[in-house]
This record gives sequence, C-alpha cells and structure tokens, in this order.
Amino acid sequence: MIQLYWKNATADVVGDEHGISPSEMASASEKVAAAHKAVVAQWDAGNLGYAKLPTRRDYRDEVMELVGRYRGKVTDLVVLGIGGSALGNIALQTALNPVTYNLLGDAKRGGPRLFVLDNADPTLIGDTLAMLGRRLKKTLFNVISKSGETAETAAMFMIVREMLRKRLGDKFADNIVATTDPEGGVLHDIAEADGYATLTVPGDVGGRFSVLSPVGLFSAAMCGIDIDALLAGAARMAERVKSTPPAKNPACVLAAVKYLMYAQKGKPIHVMMPYSNRLTGLADWYKQLWAESLGKETSRSGQKVFVGPTPVSALGATDQHSQIQLYREGPNDKLIVLLEVENHPREVRVPDVFAGIDKLAYLRKVKISKLLNSEKQATEYALARSHRPSVTIRFDAITPKSVGGFIFLYEFTTSLAGELLDINAYDQPAVELGKKATGALLGLDDSTTMSDEIRKFAEADAEYLV
Ligand code: PA5
Repeated sequence: MIQLYWKNATADVVGDEHGISPSEMASASEKVAAAHKAVVAQWDAGNLGYAKLPTRRDYRDEVMELVGRYRGKVTDLVVLGIGGSALGNIALQTALNPVTYNLLGDAKRGGPRLFVLDNADPTLIGDTLAMLGRRLKKTLFNVISKSGETAETAAMFMIVREMLRKRLGDKFADNIVATTDPEGGVLHDIAEADGYATLTVPGDVGGRFSVLSPVGLFSAAMCGIDIDALLAGAARMAERVKSTPPAKNPACVLAAVKYLMYAQKGKPIHVMMPYSNRLTGLADWYKQLWAESLGKETSRSGQKVFVGPTPVSALGATDQHSQIQLYREGPNDKLIVLLEVENHPREVRVPDVFAGIDKLAYLRKVKISKLLNSEKQATEYALARSHRPSVTIRFDAITPKSVGGFIFLYEFTTSLAGELLDINAYDQPAVELGKKATGALLGLDDSTTMSDEIRKFAEADAEYLV
C-alpha cells in the first residue's frame, strides 16, 4: 500500500511564504479536478496508452512464454537499451531483488545475472562483454528499442550481434530477444530477417511510460520478479487514481502540491529522496519521467512557455551528509519528496557491544531500519524548521505490488501535471533533435548542413582554451 502525507508542505508547518494555505489548495483543487477529468476522458477514449498496461494479459502472456523458453537455460541476461528502454528495467531489478543478486551463485539466484547496458560507453560495453567470457553461450541479449534506430542501442546491438555470430555461428539468433515496435522499423526488420524472438513495445506508449509493458516485464520476470503482482499493484493504483475524488486522490493531491510549489511558491526543483537503497532506481526512473514529460518549450496552443520542474534525486541517509546542507540552508527553491519504507525487505540489528562507551549507547541493540526511519523523520523535521516543504510517500513494504502502485501513481501524476502546465507530456522534441544531430555528425543520411553547423560550433576557440 502506498500513502501520501503532505502536511509538511502546508503553510501551517513551513509558513505562508513557502507552504500551501487552505485557500491556495482549494483554488488548485479546482484546476486539478479539471485536469483529472481531462486525463480520465483520454483514458476512457482509449488514448492513454500506458493506462492500459496493468491489465494487458496479452503482453504479460507473451513475456511469460519467452520466460518459459529461456529461464533456467541462460546464466546471464544483458539488456541493451537507453532512456525509457532501460531505466524501468534497472528500477525494477534494484527495488525487487537483493543488492547482491548478481553476486549469488547460479543455483541460489534462480534467474540469470542481469546487466543493463544503457550507455554508449566503451568501458561499460567492453568490460561487460569481456567479463562474459565462456558464459557467452548461455547469455541472452535483450535489445530494447521502440524506434529501433537509437544510436547508442543500435551500436551496442551491432557489436553484440557480430560477436555472437562469430562465436556461436548459425545459432546466434537464439541468444537475442528484440523488444521493439511490432509494426515496423529497423530493429523489427533485422529481427525478422535473423529470426530472433520478439516482444512488443506498444505503439501508443512512450518509452518513459513503458516499464509495465514487455520492455520492463521481461528482464524482471527472467530475474524472478512476480510480474503478476507488479501489474496487480499497478492496476489497483490505476483504479484508485481514476475513481477516488480529487481531495482524497493521491495523484491529484501530489499533482496539486507539486504544481503549487512550482507555479506559486518558487520551488522549481523537485527532489526525490528515498530512504532505501532499493528505491534509488525508481528515483532515477522518476527523473526521466518528470523531465522528459514536463520540460517543454511550447504550450499545447503553441505559445512559448519554457516550463518544467527540475527533477533531482538524493538518497537518505547518505545525502544527509552531503546535499541536505544545501537543502536546508541554500536557496529555498525545492520541494522534497521523501520515500519512506515501513518494513524493509531485510532487517539488521546493532549488537549489544561497547557497554562502557556512553556516546554509542543509543545505538546498542537498535534495528538498522529504526535508525534509517528515524533519520528520515529527523530530516523531515529539520527541513520544516528551516521552512523547507516536503511530502512523504510511504511504502508499507517494498513488494512487486507496492512498486507497481508507485509506478502508476507517478505516471498518472505526470499526466495531471502535463494538463496543469498545459503542455504535451507525451512527446520529447528536444531529445529527438539530439538524436538527429548525433546521426548527422556520424554521417547519417545527407544532413550535411546540420553536421557542418555542429562541427563549426564544436571547433575549439583557442582564446577560451586554458
Ligand atoms: O522516453 C523516451 O521516449 C526516450 O527516453 C526513449 O525511451 C529513448 O530515447 C530510447 O528510445 P528507443 O526505445 O526508441 O530506442
């Protein structure tokens, strides 16, 4: 169960300048109710692609069919993808498997080791592929690309395919699963020609909203994560955010608080700070979701608006010894979303030692979860004392259900925020331009004007080289 607690973002707690007053919330609530109505109308009309995912049995079944084919037979699974085609995979694995997962023996793990190559970094790719060594034969590569043409993924895929072809001969295609748009595209065509198993990236779901599709589900299920429970948790949250009246609806309240903080309280920076290492991948996933969906130059009617809260991630308690100094005493320009876990997946207790050392007495016999959760409460209090607003999202436990619920909560909140900011939350024109410019530099098509322009721009000006 996921709960949202927002009192520490109110004027009562952090003062009128930085906190939300009842009248401000009331006026935002009207806007949020209208936004909710608009998003639900898109959903009911079948135009909110990601909202269908929690109940798409066909996607779940195509994933499980392939899992049945490969699980138990492969020792390693390497995902090749970037952005929305990788961050969800990392988030699920980090949240729902132990931090030591890849270090466990094959028998103990049950599923394959998982490596997600999500950058065109020669060291990352080279080190990982070299490490596989003799295990290559039993390594499955899941190349994920909706467009099928993203430079980083395509380059990694070309390296891997050639390596497999050389090392495994005719049977190399058995070691590749391609997750891509079933309607067509470069990867789709190669998969067909080479004969890979394929999985679907739904055409109406953007990369950053695709974690609950085969994009995120396959690596999760291969690594033993209960994807039925994950989808059930998301479906339950979907029902909750769709039908609960705005005042008691966690997505509406979260969207209202975030919108007010951004638009009226001078808080353009929205930090997500989990008090759990397991939730760090979800914080990274949130950064992409929030930034790519809401950072937009033009409104839906074409006006220049240049909007978008800046998402930042931090980790409790680690960042209490780092970023919190800035958060409490630097510019009061942040809303901090704390993630709290009531029951951690594992418990550790401090032993009853150093009886004679008074300064450590308070730590004796203390559960580490109590220490961590106390640190969270202390930070919340300290932030409030400095008039810094925060909200808490509370996980009863980190389970596939709660993680599915959290994912859907944030996706829906993003849709509401898009409505409130009056922008299209589902495109990413600035990302597309970056992709085009990289292609131009490397000689794609005959876009010489663009490549000449970039080369000229990139030439170092000696006057500024020190
Ligand atoms: O959210 C998005 O649309 C992007 O982050 C994409 O996921 C990313 O650019 C990768 O695209 P593709 O899956 O087409 O390779």
